[in-house]
Amino acid sequence: MRKRIEEIAETLVRSGQGILAADESNNTIKKRFDSIGIENTEYNRRSYRELLFRTKGAMNDNISGVILFEETLYQKAKDGTSFVDLIREANAIPGVKADRGSFVLAGHPGEIVTEGLDGLRDRLIKYYESGAQFAKWRAVITINDALPSLSGIKANAHALARYASVCQDLGIVPIVEPEVKMDSEPADHTIERCEKVTSAVLKTVFDELHDQQVLLEGIILKPNMVLPGIKCCRQSTPDEVSAHTVRVLKRYVPSAVPGIAFLSGGQSDIQATSNLAAINAQYDMPWTVTYSYGRALQASCLKIWGGQIENTLNAQKTFAHRARMNGLATLGKWDNSQEKSI
Ligand code: 13P
Repeated sequence: MRKRIEEIAETLVRSGQGILAADESNNTIKKRFDSIGIENTEYNRRSYRELLFRTKGAMNDNISGVILFEETLYQKAKDGTSFVDLIREANAIPGVKADRGSFVLAGHPGEIVTEGLDGLRDRLIKYYESGAQFAKWRAVITINDALPSLSGIKANAHALARYASVCQDLGIVPIVEPEVKMDSEPADHTIERCEKVTSAVLKTVFDELHDQQVLLEGIILKPNMVLPGIKCCRQSTPDEVSAHTVRVLKRYVPSAVPGIAFLSGGQSDIQATSNLAAINAQYDMPWTVTYSYGRALQASCLKIWGGQIENTLNAQKTFAHRARMNGLATLGKWDNSQEKSI
């Protein structure tokens, strides 16, 4: 079991590839669909995800795994092929969002905690039987001058570690995702404040993973990059982001962890790619450092698709381009001139 978990984790971070986060809950995909003026129906969700999973250029070359929402894990393409099989045909690994979203953390005004530990083992057994080999749990950390509280960080880290431990017990690789938000209101925090909070969060998460006996060789860490808030008056260059981010990771992430796959968190497509490229081009690190992007892989594709079947090919080209650019960024071989290749 241990060897298998380690192999899946290694495969998820294989060279030049990263993870597609296509696990937007039905509420979140509604926001994305609202932005292009299309209705949030099961048919539209299925059509859009089929477009992504049939993009050969992206899926075969630059995507190692796909995180699915529960509904999508059980859905089929138009011709009756299950999405799980489509993803496997592209030599990628299907995974699933295992948490139930974030809710108010009682006694902690302004903070939230991710729920979903109740019934988790039974859900994971079903997901595994349906083909999921890895899972994801996202803990959301509010940041401002006063927050997060230490007990807020601890509650989220404890849940992450409990989830990770159940996953490994069942032969599933846990993606451990503590996200310090870049857009928590008022979102004017500095990059230094983000570094401080991200440090405290990662330290607590690894303490909890240790306490819950989680095998570090069999997880993927999915953290935020260290960034200023989106309304901070001093925004940062890729050189600054990479310096702050790598310093924190080197201090708090044990080298036993095989891979770090960043979330994009609301960065623009180019920001997410150029920051990842700067990290990989400039630093020697003990882990493979890649992407597990949702918005930064999909935003431009979604916009071009716009719910119209005749736009499918162009939307797929756009998705394949973003996946290729991020693949190059994992190798430290991206520069802005390659963006023109589309
Ligand atoms: P973003 O890259 O859009 O932040 O999404 C990643 C993700 O999986 C959020 O949980």
